[in-house]
Amino acid sequence: MNPALETLVLAYREFQPPSGEILFLGAEPHPDLPPLTAWQPLKPLAVQCEAAGMPLTDQPTGKFSTILFLPGKSKGEILAGFARAHDLLAPGGVLITALANTAGASRYEKEISRASPLLASVSKNKCRAFAVSNKTPWQADLLNEWRELEGFYEIPGSGFFTQPGVFSSGRIDPGSELLAAHLPPSLRGNVADLGAGWGYLSRIALEKSSRIERVDLFEADSRALDCARKNLSAKAAFHWHDVSTGLPEKYDHIITNPPFHTAQSKDIDLGKAFLTTAAASLKRGGTLLLVANRQLPYEAHLDSLGLRSRILEENHAYKVIFSS
Ligand SMILES: C[S@@+](CC[C@H](N)C(=O)[O-])C[C@H]1O[C@@H](n2cnc3c(N)ncnc32)[C@H](O)[C@@H]1O
Repeated sequence: MNPALETLVLAYREFQPPSGEILFLGAEPHPDLPPLTAWQPLKPLAVQCEAAGMPLTDQPTGKFSTILFLPGKSKGEILAGFARAHDLLAPGGVLITALANTAGASRYEKEISRASPLLASVSKNKCRAFAVSNKTPWQADLLNEWRELEGFYEIPGSGFFTQPGVFSSGRIDPGSELLAAHLPPSLRGNVADLGAGWGYLSRIALEKSSRIERVDLFEADSRALDCARKNLSAKAAFHWHDVSTGLPEKYDHIITNPPFHTAQSKDIDLGKAFLTTAAASLKRGGTLLLVANRQLPYEAHLDSLGLRSRILEENHAYKVIFSS
């Protein structure tokens, strides 16, 4: 179980927020939570929420008397999330946020208390949960500053749009850049980009090869896919999808910079699951091109999946692997 979630649920019980509609931003199921509306951009967690009977919304609207907030780790996402929660609070409503200490819980508790006085705070499971209300108006300048962090912004001069909270927000990932340099102009037919993020690799693949008929972008984070829709138009299809569950069809080529972290921790098995999906989803004669941190033991895994691999380039941080 996620310790920040446990601390959030503990705070919800202890702080006794006002009765009424509840919204959970960054929702995860928990047996002790009351009925509520859930917003969760990550597909595997959204599936868990649905399985637990939590109604999901893509875009929360209306006013809620309690908002529970379990953010990711990025500063922009957390601060923009405070502003978003404020705008969704009913008069007199209460916002309870929980974060791991290592994710800067004390720092963000201090930050939100600059906008509105703290109602309560609890420290447990190496996490903190803290509550504020909108009984008195929040500090307007700070609120506006946080609101400005919301939404899409361009990586200067690149034509690529990202938003807070997504992988490699505001910059091109150097591993992906290395893989992009090795995407050959010979790619053709149907291509899948696994863990496509905001669409960097897919767009470079399409720019390099006019013989690609379609790129399918498979990505777990709906916010990243929303960026990808801005970054690509022709020949691209967008799938909010958990790659570890397999793909619906087979491909001529697969490209990927697999994740090796889940929201909470390092998870090499997730990267291996990506490669297992890729191996099962290549057409006969199909190819897989991937980039990985150089210490990750992917070649042995590819070998066990019946793929032959060679390293196209390796530097101090990454290796680019070609498999067929
Ligand atoms: C290392 S990043 C690469 C992103 C993008 N391809 C790029 O080059 O910028 C890995 C991506 O996989 C996504 N991801 C993580 N778990 C996933 C899953 N189970 N299914 C699909 N995508 C996932 C992450 O949200 C992230 O965008």
